[in-house]
Amino acid sequence: MAGNRGVVYVGKGHVEVQDIRYPELVLRDGPGVNPLNVGRKCNHGVIVKVVTTNICGSDQHMVRGRTTAPSGLVLGHEITGEVIEVGSDVEFIQKGDLVSVPFNIACGRCRSCKTQDTHICENVNPDRPGSAYGYVDMGGWVGGQSEYVMVPYADFQLLKFPDKDRAMEKILDLTMLSDIFPTGYHGAVSAGVKPGSTVYVAGAGPVGLAAAHSAQLLGASVVIVGDLIEERLAQARSFGCETVNLRNHPNLADQIDQILGVPEVDCAIDAVGFEASGHGEGAQEAPATVLNAVMDITRAGGRLGIPGLYVTGDPGGIDDDAKEGTLKIRLGLGWAKAHTFVTGQTPVMKYHRDLMMAILSGRAQIAKAVNATLISLDEAPASYQQFDGGASKKFVIDPHGLVRS
Ligand SMILES: NC(=O)c1ccc[n+]([C@@H]2O[C@H](COP(=O)([O-])OP(=O)(O)OC[C@H]3O[C@@H](n4cnc5c(N)ncnc54)[C@H](O)[C@@H]3O)[C@@H](O)[C@H]2O)c1
Ligand SMILES: [Zn+2]
Ligand SMILES: [Zn+2]
Repeated sequence: MAGNRGVVYVGKGHVEVQDIRYPELVLRDGPGVNPLNVGRKCNHGVIVKVVTTNICGSDQHMVRGRTTAPSGLVLGHEITGEVIEVGSDVEFIQKGDLVSVPFNIACGRCRSCKTQDTHICENVNPDRPGSAYGYVDMGGWVGGQSEYVMVPYADFQLLKFPDKDRAMEKILDLTMLSDIFPTGYHGAVSAGVKPGSTVYVAGAGPVGLAAAHSAQLLGASVVIVGDLIEERLAQARSFGCETVNLRNHPNLADQIDQILGVPEVDCAIDAVGFEASGHGEGAQEAPATVLNAVMDITRAGGRLGIPGLYVTGDPGGIDDDAKEGTLKIRLGLGWAKAHTFVTGQTPVMKYHRDLMMAILSGRAQIAKAVNATLISLDEAPASYQQFDGGASKKFVIDPHGLVRS
């Protein structure tokens, strides 16, 4: 049997590339596998030879020790690859297909999936609706920052690229379809962005940059990106965004006023989540900062897209409330302004086909916007550190050297 290697979470601040089990069309027991999922047959699944798999800010929450992720968890939920084995119940996906794997795992058969809400599939995670590969509390589906991975419910979930050679030419863009491009786009759509909108995006990490590019694609007149890291803001400026450095300029409304002539925007997107920093020099972590800031600067009647992750348990939370995900949110302000909040995982399948076409036609330049940076599997641990240090790069692992060659 072929071997397999993958990026494994060892403990706080520490990931390693290790030999891991070669996948089968069954979910075996292992670190983080929900007991009710052990032995689950996946004849509806396929084995994918991973062509690209990206490191995500969502992985960092686990690696920073901010979750209960167990040691030994194989990481990775952003997977693109070639199908090399198909289960007996797979009808339409074939060996040799080059596919994007949505990071949510979804059965295609439950009430949620039937209404395109694949981010809250009811049948894949015994603990709660919603699941993902290589993630804590998500059922235990093995992650794909590896050479090979098993993907269940293949016919329903996989997005097949129409032309393999053409797809390989754009693979650094197409690899973003598994998560951050749909996630940024969902943030912008949820925030109600339309032609002419003024938009604030909190966070200039890959998700914030993807949201900013998506807002441009949707016709926004001005996109303002806020962060505390200058290198990341420079990346946002490189494709036409205005920026606010919240370390130097803690008063966001004033900064927006200087840019727009009014201290508010039509639409706002939180691409930061629960590890948010307060504004200003030397500010500490303050998990409700972004939620309160976006309520403050969004016009009455506006919509807030919130792809940034919020948790129900955080061992590293700043106080007892934060440790159980209870935050000091000024809901009265949002209520008074009749804001709409859209939270949760992104239903990737709602968007990935359209965004694939936007990439293949040259309309969308997502790899450029997020500074996609190719690395080998062995470079993954160092890249996790660089990313944690604030590098403005979206790291794309090329485990078989198929993209570099
Ligand atoms: N909803 C989904 O399905 C989904 C999918 C992917 C990622 N996410 C989440 O989106 C978030 C962003 O992901 P990422 O990969 O870009 O992560 P990231 O950690 O690279 O980026 C977050 C950025 O926010 C900045 N920041 C911190 N406090 C801030 C503040 N008060 N105002 C503005 N910026 C601030 C940080 O400096 C950092 O650059 C994470 O919480 C991630 O888990 C959600
Ligand atoms: Zn991700
Ligand atoms: Zn389902």
